[in-house]
Amino acid sequence: MISFSHAPVMLNEVISVFKESQTPLNVFLDGTFGRGGHTKALIENFPGVHVWGMDQDEEAIAAGKALSLSNLTLVHGNFSEFEKKIVEQKSFDGILLDLGVSSPQLDDAGRGFSFYHDGPLDMRMDRSQKMTAADIINGWDEDELIDLFKNLGEVRNPFRVVRAIVHDRKTTLFTTTRQLAGMIERVSGWRKKGFNPATQYFMALRLQVNGELQILEETLPKLMNALADKGRAVVITFHSLEDRIVKNIFKNNPELGRPVSKKVVKPSREEQKFNPRSRSAKLRAFERGAYEY
Ligand SMILES: C[S@@+](CC[C@H](N)C(=O)[O-])C[C@H]1O[C@@H](n2cnc3c(N)ncnc32)[C@H](O)[C@@H]1O
Repeated sequence: MISFSHAPVMLNEVISVFKESQTPLNVFLDGTFGRGGHTKALIENFPGVHVWGMDQDEEAIAAGKALSLSNLTLVHGNFSEFEKKIVEQKSFDGILLDLGVSSPQLDDAGRGFSFYHDGPLDMRMDRSQKMTAADIINGWDEDELIDLFKNLGEVRNPFRVVRAIVHDRKTTLFTTTRQLAGMIERVSGWRKKGFNPATQYFMALRLQVNGELQILEETLPKLMNALADKGRAVVITFHSLEDRIVKNIFKNNPELGRPVSKKVVKPSREEQKFNPRSRSAKLRAFERGAYEY
C-alpha cells in the first residue's frame, strides 16, 4: 500500500545529540524538512525553539504549512541557498541535514524516483529545476553516461547498459521509469536475489539530477560556520559516497568542528525492522570548535 507519510530516521538519536549540547537550542535550521518528523519532535522536546525549515520540494513545504506550527518558519529552497533565503537569521544553535529523498517522493510514481512504479523519468526534488533524468538518459553521450554510472552508481561494468541506452534512444526516447528499468533488468540480468540491477543506475541519476554530492560538499562547511559557539550539526546520510564526503570534510578541516562521538551512529535493529528504508542510514554529529585528528 502506498503511504505518503515519512518515518523520521533515528529520531531519538537526533534529539539526544541536541539534549546533550551545552548550547541552549533557541534557533534551529532543519535543511531537509521533508514531512517535518524531526522538526515536530524538536519542537516537542525544546518548546522555546524556533525552527527554520527548508526544503527544495514545494510539496514538502505545503505539507509543512498544513501543520500550522507557530514556532516554525518554512522556506522553499535548496539548503545551499540558506544564507540568501534566510537573511533574518545569521546564526543557528543546531542544524539538521537528513539527506536524500523522502518516502512521499519515492512512493509517488509521478515523481519518477522509483523503478517499482511506472512514472515519468523525472527525479527532480525541486520541480522548478529544468534538468530531469530523461534529459540525461536521452542527451548525454556514451562516455558521459559510463562515467556517471561508474562514479555515482558505483556500477563496475555499465558498458552494455549504456550501449543499449544509446542504441535504443535512436528510435524511441526513454520517457518512463519502467522503460529504463526493464531494459537494465534485461541487459544486466538478476545476479543477486532481491537486488534489482536498476538500483545503482537510478541512484546515480538521482544524485546527478539533484546535484546532491556537490551541494553537500560545498554547503556543509558554510553551515558549520553558521553555528553558534558549541552549536551542533547532525547529518544523516543514506549513501556511502555521501558519508565519505561528510567524514572527509571534517578530517581535512578540523577547524570546522569536532565529531560528537568517535563512532558513526546507525539505526537500531528494531528501527531497521520497522522502517526498512532506514537500513543504510548513518548519523554523524559535529560540534563547532576546533579539533585535532
Ligand atoms: C529524507 S527526507 C527528510 C525527512 C524529514 N527529516 C522528516 O522527518 O520528515 C529529505 C528531504 O530533504 C529534501 N532535500 C534533499 N536535499 C535537499 C537540499 N539540498 N535542499 C533542500 N531540501 C533538500 C528532499 O526534498 C526531502 O523532502
